[in-house]
Amino acid sequence: MVKQRKGSENRVLGIDIGGTGCKAAIVDIEEGKFLTERFRLDTPQPSTPKAVCQTVKKIIQHFDWKGKVGVGFPAIMKKGVAFSAANIHKDWLHTNVEKVLSKAINLPLKATNDADAAGIAAINFGAGKGENGVVLFLTIGTGIGSALFLDGQLSPNTEFGHLFFKKEIAEKSISNALRKRENLSYKKWGKSWNEYLLHIERVLNPDLVILGGGGGKKFKEFEQYLKLDTKVIPAILKNDAGIIGAAIYAHEKIKVEV
Ligand code: BGC
Repeated sequence: MVKQRKGSENRVLGIDIGGTGCKAAIVDIEEGKFLTERFRLDTPQPSTPKAVCQTVKKIIQHFDWKGKVGVGFPAIMKKGVAFSAANIHKDWLHTNVEKVLSKAINLPLKATNDADAAGIAAINFGAGKGENGVVLFLTIGTGIGSALFLDGQLSPNTEFGHLFFKKEIAEKSISNALRKRENLSYKKWGKSWNEYLLHIERVLNPDLVILGGGGGKKFKEFEQYLKLDTKVIPAILKNDAGIIGAAIYAHEKIKVEV
């Protein structure tokens, strides 16, 4: 949970690096709220370390930022190092994301998995606030990310979007990107989501599932097709969650004051 701090210590620049866009804002981590407008740049293609560093530099310049930076990164992240690269350039694999980005901007920076970041925001300030038991947060975007909580504590780096489902990893057939690309009806997409969530229910038995990301915003359109016993609800913080959670993560990990 967020620790109470005073003054500028509460402010962290959160950056959510996604497969398609890089979104950022200065966050009040005590309130879980943006202190600025959200700023978005396309994720460079190809999203090589060099290219992403340039984009992060532009974000820092935009905010004229000189403090702590938190990054949500679309990969399995252990001690700042990327251990997968499903929706980001393969050159990131085994790269110390924290070191590379921090060096590029010359500021203290911590990075965590993007879905874990969004889940941290949801559990502190969003639909998961006060929810105990096993809570699974899923972010539906270019890929499917997951964050798993037990009584508010994160078990990092789960990859429920990579469960095998219909002969391939689930995100290939249920992502929001696929829905848009193939212009799938909400009925068809919703039914696939139902099958996938039934699969999750069978193997995990969560107490609550929260659906976030761009796909979560469409919850009203497909909730009628979800026929499982587990309670499923939409996220509240929408696209802000990844940015807010990245800022909270960095705030707790960066000990040196700037
Ligand atoms: C990645 C996850 C990430 C998710 C959402 C997946 O392809 O494997 O680590 O959280 O996409 O960006």
